Amino acid sequence: MKIISFEGIEGVGKSTQINLLKEYLEFKNLSVEVLREPGSSIPGEKIREILLDTSHDLTNETELLLMFASRAELVNSKIINNKSDYLLLDRFYDASIAYQGYGRNLSIPLINSLISFIKCPEPDVSFLLDIAVEDGFARKKNDKKDRIESASVAFFNRVKEGYLSIAKENNDRFTIIDASMDINEIHMKIIDTLNTSL
Ligand code: TMP
Repeated sequence: MKIISFEGIEGVGKSTQINLLKEYLEFKNLSVEVLREPGSSIPGEKIREILLDTSHDLTNETELLLMFASRAELVNSKIINNKSDYLLLDRFYDASIAYQGYGRNLSIPLINSLISFIKCPEPDVSFLLDIAVEDGFARKKNDKKDRIESASVAFFNRVKEGYLSIAKENNDRFTIIDASMDINEIHMKIIDTLNTSL
């Protein structure tokens, strides 16, 4: 089983690329499962509702711990013993370093300890779809904002820059893609990367 994670701020087109890659792999008779974070387990989806609900606020610490509570369920129930050929993750633990670490200014060593504590496997390949914050939100302008999306542009700029640092520090598994490119060009770059790295 190969784990491929897709990272990036809102509006970068992760879901579109995940769907295109899923179709491509299935066409080659490979089995694929797509999981999103937070969520994709029964307790994880309930935790997701708490995390994204705009009718209450949460401390940054609560937000971090709920992300990891959801992730612990996902790792345990859906990732560790997964039998698919490919597991495509719509965000994984790098998102907590970017959003809660760089974005909310929580301790990155603490987040790294949580990653080890819940025994997160490392993705084989990670894609960072990178776009200007304003351009990402312009693509989602008709969507109602959830609690995290309602944060400031300054927050999302910290997340974007954080993601770039994470990708550079882990350049053995990360490929950074300019998400303003054409959808098919991005898809081809993803396939080329997988063909050379796996
Ligand atoms: P989405 O799945 O609709 O993009 O919403 C998930 C939100 O949660 C998104 O704003 C990114 C955020 N997030 C974190 O803040 N930390 C995390 O670890 C993960 C996985 C997501």
